Amino acid sequence: MNTQGAPVQVDLFTSLPGLGYLPGFALPQAAELVGLVAEVARASPFRRMRTPGGREMSAAMTNCGAAGWVSDAKGYRYSRQDPLSGQPWPGMPDLFRKIAARAAAACGFGGFAPDVALINRYEPGAKMTLHQDIDEQDFSAPIVSVSLGLPAIFLWGGVSRADKPARLPLHSGDVLVWGGAARKFFHGIAPVKHGTHELTGATRLNLTFRRAL
Ligand code: SIN
Ligand code: FE2
Repeated sequence: MNTQGAPVQVDLFTSLPGLGYLPGFALPQAAELVGLVAEVARASPFRRMRTPGGREMSAAMTNCGAAGWVSDAKGYRYSRQDPLSGQPWPGMPDLFRKIAARAAAACGFGGFAPDVALINRYEPGAKMTLHQDIDEQDFSAPIVSVSLGLPAIFLWGGVSRADKPARLPLHSGDVLVWGGAARKFFHGIAPVKHGTHELTGATRLNLTFRRAL
């Protein structure tokens, strides 16, 4: 069910059940989005967090919005303050909110109002192993993911870690939306290949919009 209580129909764009795929959806705003990410990172710099087990993650992260996703020896959670500064995270730019809401609506999730954008930065070789996004409070809201810069292969699994993931190439400006029955599906990013992109250089950026609090 989405936020309006209607049945979810998000597999409109691919044959992957539960995954809404909006190729090039954010392309017209891609340069502006990259600039806004740089502004966020001036206040709350990208950093490589450690898993609770002590391993440094290969993607660097920052956040904006009412809270931010953090990971350290104490576990995974949302925090209203950036632990580097002790200050609140930078506010979420209006353009972020608007694109996230429009993409969600295009996939059947009307009224999506994210309170957090987790921003990942991948250098070549960086990856994200299969995981679930389950630290949020509100699972009725979808996840909206915006990719910028270098391409990558998105891994789309299922309810179980053992489900063999499909591999979906993502390019700058592509947007994915998953929610409803697929909200807790396993997903990840295969190691990013070397390259340069006109907007981001040798970097892939990803924004995931969530209803976390
Ligand atoms: C994530 O799963 O949180 C990020 C996925 C991505 O980088 O596309
Ligand atoms: Fe995720």
